[in-house]
Amino acid sequence: MALYAIGDLHLHFQAELRAPGQLTGKVWQDHERKLAENCARLIGPEDTLVLVGDHSWGRRFSECEKDLAYIEALPGRKILLRGNHDMFWESGKTEKLNQMFEGRLHFLQNNFYTYEDYALVGTKGYAYEGLDSREHAAMLVEREAERLRTSFEAAMAAGYSRFIMFLHYPPTNFWERNSIFTRMAEKYGAEQVVYAHCHGEQRFHDSIRGKKRGIRYNLVSGDCLRWHPLCIL
Ligand SMILES: [Fe+2]
Ligand SMILES: [Fe+2]
Repeated sequence: MALYAIGDLHLHFQAELRAPGQLTGKVWQDHERKLAENCARLIGPEDTLVLVGDHSWGRRFSECEKDLAYIEALPGRKILLRGNHDMFWESGKTEKLNQMFEGRLHFLQNNFYTYEDYALVGTKGYAYEGLDSREHAAMLVEREAERLRTSFEAAMAAGYSRFIMFLHYPPTNFWERNSIFTRMAEKYGAEQVVYAHCHGEQRFHDSIRGKKRGIRYNLVSGDCLRWHPLCIL
């Protein structure tokens, strides 16, 4: 049994690419096939794969169905986190998605999943990239921190004390050394923080990577991993 993670699939079996310039280069050519082949080789039916957000370019659910069917066809148990591009997943609809895909896909927000004696907790997160106003960014950070707290607290209430924490956004932005998200990882004793969102080589070192204050930080954006899901446990 193993736990894998990868993010930023940016599938578009149905939807038009909204920012085609972002996903260019050899690594993005035929990336759906590369990922499916790597998953088939690495991941067995007993394993878990966490998909760390930015699943689909589709805006409406009807534009994402083929993308979600592709994810469903990957081997193992699939847990999905919400990315900033996942317009199909409105924040209030997590429970509905979990009902729709019961037994097939698992959507992580304001809840948690388990893997052996670990609780898998997480939320989209937020890292300021210079685009929003500072006030708006602070509001987004606080809202996401609250969702993360809810996830940790639900896991603790169920008796879990070992945590792997997932974020779509990096835990710190380019200018930060720590954040509310790194402080929460430390406070709750998360053993690993796994995140994506940073794609394109120039962004791979925007945030923390490797071990810091006893926590391992892993960037798992698909192009960074060259479409090989990372085994995190
Ligand atoms: Fe992305
Ligand atoms: Fe993203």
